[in-house]
Amino acid sequence: MTTVPTPESRSVPTPGRVRLRRMRATPARRRLAAQTRVHAEQLILPMFVKEGLTDPRPLGSMPGVLQHTRDSLRRAAVEAAEAGVGGVMLFGIPERRDAVGSCATEPDGILNVAIADVVAEVGDALVVQADLCLDEFTDHGHCGVLAPDGSVDNDATLVRYADMALAQAAAGVDLIGLSGMMDGQTAACRDALDAAGFTGTALLAYAAKYASAFYGPFREAVESELQGDRRTYQMDPANRREAAREVAADVAEGADVVMVKPAMSYLDVLADVAATSPVPVWAYQVSGEYAMIEAAAANGWIDRRRAITESVLSIRRAGADAVLTYWAVELAHWLSEGTR
Ligand code: PBG
Repeated sequence: MTTVPTPESRSVPTPGRVRLRRMRATPARRRLAAQTRVHAEQLILPMFVKEGLTDPRPLGSMPGVLQHTRDSLRRAAVEAAEAGVGGVMLFGIPERRDAVGSCATEPDGILNVAIADVVAEVGDALVVQADLCLDEFTDHGHCGVLAPDGSVDNDATLVRYADMALAQAAAGVDLIGLSGMMDGQTAACRDALDAAGFTGTALLAYAAKYASAFYGPFREAVESELQGDRRTYQMDPANRREAAREVAADVAEGADVVMVKPAMSYLDVLADVAATSPVPVWAYQVSGEYAMIEAAAANGWIDRRRAITESVLSIRRAGADAVLTYWAVELAHWLSEGTR
């Protein structure tokens, strides 16, 4: 019968020379050894402004996020600039919606006036960006105009997008976020802007934007009227290689920056794109990602600050040069305290 050696007689295994814990031993070592850093200037704050609102309105599914009035938007943009974030991304909610999203292209449409407001207030300190898409402006809630059979008409939508780009550029926008996932949208907007002399207006192509359930709370934020889904134009969450084709197309069409969206469930896609993209790569930590962490933290199930910090750090680690996040300002304040 074999006898089990006593603890005293057993030889103790050692890792030998390799001890990875050495560089984790003190806060100072960990700080110096960190391979990824997050800076306030790499954060972009998405903001909502609603036409006709008299007081800012909190969003139930996104605690801490507001629908702004024009005035409160201006003040919040100043706060963002003071916190040192890199930019803001504006979304507008009109009072009136129709089939073609008319308010999107009217010079006094809510998004266009809000762009001018924010540029006047903080245009030198921040990159003032705006969402270019029709879903907030259409009564059917789709990101484009509809063909008679009810499908989203790609090429007819490009005409609307080009007009929208011109309206936003005329309002003074720095950079336009093309989030509609129509084929050819980057080229259509670039050509229209260039022909009108807006050669300096930059384009952020939401190159790899997936048809995601994680946009749920955003639909409340913009009071979306969408029935159904966006699977005929946004990417299938199953597809990884396809992102490279989307990025290549947008870069060829003149995109200055490309986006991967959502972020946390698509870190593989983000890492792929970051490894090959010739232009900066940004990622959007979307409303559902925000809501999940806030809800879990409110229940005491996770440490809110650590979870937020870790989530944005992980998006940077995967390769994002900048991150759109609803926590941009709060995180910027934490970063200025020098802690992670
Ligand atoms: C489309 C747009 C959406 C988001 C940003 N731009 C919604 C959608 O595609 O359904 C979602 C952002 C978020 O969930 O935080 N204009």
